Amino acid sequence: MCGIFGVSGSSVASGATVLKGLKALEYRGYDSWGVAVRTARNDVFICKDVGKISQVHCDFPDGVEAFGHSRWATHGGVTKANAHPHVVGGVTLIHNGICENYRELKEKYPTTYASETDTEVMASLLAAHFATGKTPEECMMQMAKEVEGRYAVLAFFEGRPGICAARKGSPLIIGRGEHETYIASDIPAFLPYTKNVNYLDDNEMVRVVGAEVEFLNLQSGKAIDKRTIAVPWEAEDATKGDHPHFMIKEIREQKSTIASAINQSNDKLKAAAKMMKEAKGVYAIACGTANKAAMAGEYFFANIAGRKVNVVPASEMSSFLQFVREGTLLLAVSQSGETADVMEVLEIGKNKGAKILAMTNVESSSMARMADVHLPLQTGPEKAVASTKAATAQMAILFLLAYADAGRVNEGRELLSATAGAINDMLNPRFEERIEAISKKLAKHENMFIIGRNTLYPMALEASIKIQEVSYVHAQGFAAGELKHGPIALITEGAPVLVLGDDPETLSNAMEVKSRGAWVIGVSCIHSEVFDEWIRVPDCDEAQCISTVIPVQILSYHMAVERGLDPDQPRNLAKSVTVK
Ligand code: M6R
Repeated sequence: MCGIFGVSGSSVASGATVLKGLKALEYRGYDSWGVAVRTARNDVFICKDVGKISQVHCDFPDGVEAFGHSRWATHGGVTKANAHPHVVGGVTLIHNGICENYRELKEKYPTTYASETDTEVMASLLAAHFATGKTPEECMMQMAKEVEGRYAVLAFFEGRPGICAARKGSPLIIGRGEHETYIASDIPAFLPYTKNVNYLDDNEMVRVVGAEVEFLNLQSGKAIDKRTIAVPWEAEDATKGDHPHFMIKEIREQKSTIASAINQSNDKLKAAAKMMKEAKGVYAIACGTANKAAMAGEYFFANIAGRKVNVVPASEMSSFLQFVREGTLLLAVSQSGETADVMEVLEIGKNKGAKILAMTNVESSSMARMADVHLPLQTGPEKAVASTKAATAQMAILFLLAYADAGRVNEGRELLSATAGAINDMLNPRFEERIEAISKKLAKHENMFIIGRNTLYPMALEASIKIQEVSYVHAQGFAAGELKHGPIALITEGAPVLVLGDDPETLSNAMEVKSRGAWVIGVSCIHSEVFDEWIRVPDCDEAQCISTVIPVQILSYHMAVERGLDPDQPRNLAKSVTVK
């Protein structure tokens, strides 16, 4: 939610460098953008606007330091005035997060507010303290005392060289160049320049001036030693390459990502399985697509290990928090590892003595770092807003863990290796063409339905998320057996129904809708006469949901393209939802 990028060092601190960095972070928010460049004479030049970064035309001066922000609006509409940076007094600020007590701070720090944002209130607070003679570091410490909520902020303080940054709850990573330093919400923003990084933790701040970097505790102001780590990513991993969009690139990458995901260390798997066994109740906490992967996990654990896992959307946990206590296991499933609703449950659970097992795609993420055990998804960066390769990696790891829990991890690995191989074979141009042809017809409809049973029920729900978010077609997923209890009333002549699976009960349900005029598209291993169209998927046994969801991802991608939409950046969405 909102992308932040900054650079200090006269040779590279240009508006163009910031725009390039922001472009790499645009998946985090793309309502509006803004850049601030500070020159050697200490003048700050600001350019900001609504819309996407590709539409930018600014004449930036040469700078010694610069930063920028791409926004996903929370407080205040999508307007130029609300775009960051915000300037109050001697302070120029960009912010990712939420200042929850902004109303009371607005009264405490009055100024001529030019925007409706909580960020401008934070700038006003910093400016007020800076005007009293406090150093930039002292101002940041004061902000930390007074602001309630989550933030990653970057600031210029007039007349003081360098960029000051602080973190509480929203990610910030430092990239160490030879003569310059980068600060960003995510590594891909500076990957073309350096792979050497420091992770800023919550309640820490950093002051960078060129290549000089000083880390401080945000509460005490004491210096902190940080280890510099080389990340194993290549710059190309975070680019589209020859693919027209990130979404299709990431779908195709599933040729190899399932195999990478299951390449988990045996020790970690054992530790995770032990946590499952010893837990006084397991709650799987996730949002959106990750929640649907967790639901598939609920079936895996029940079917394979005879274990009950409670899957609750993180935003619905409040009634169930009473059952989280010392010894409860919270299983966090997330691509980004930063989703605010999940983080909140983990923080509450941790304070109550619960253990945390996290599965995320970002090794440095907040969830990974607060977990007792972290199982990395190992799929490489996922940049399209729609989660695809991360979701199948999550399911593969949950499947493996269910087998580990049942004491049959090698059997689980073998089944998944076979699944990875079958998916590799399935993902070929002819397969995509066949799905593209069906998507052209589907894209003309405004409503469609998806049904599935057992592990394919969560996939029906996942299919509806995928289709809705990128193609804007109203798609609804149901448990196949539930149709006849109400939703079947929606079926009219020609209504598209995607049927996941070929078990006899689901085929009967398909027949029920077909008899009422539905256009039935089957996604299954075996053909049935009930299907008007058929997408064949390989037989992956208990891991069937992993191979079945992939054609649905391809279908939603092509429906979006057919409808003239940008599948990478759907309206109103952002990749990582770091607000509640
Ligand atoms: O980063 P996370 O996996 O925690 O994100 C959770 C959801 O916001 C995410 O899966 C969302 O539903 C996707 N846009 C779906 O494709």
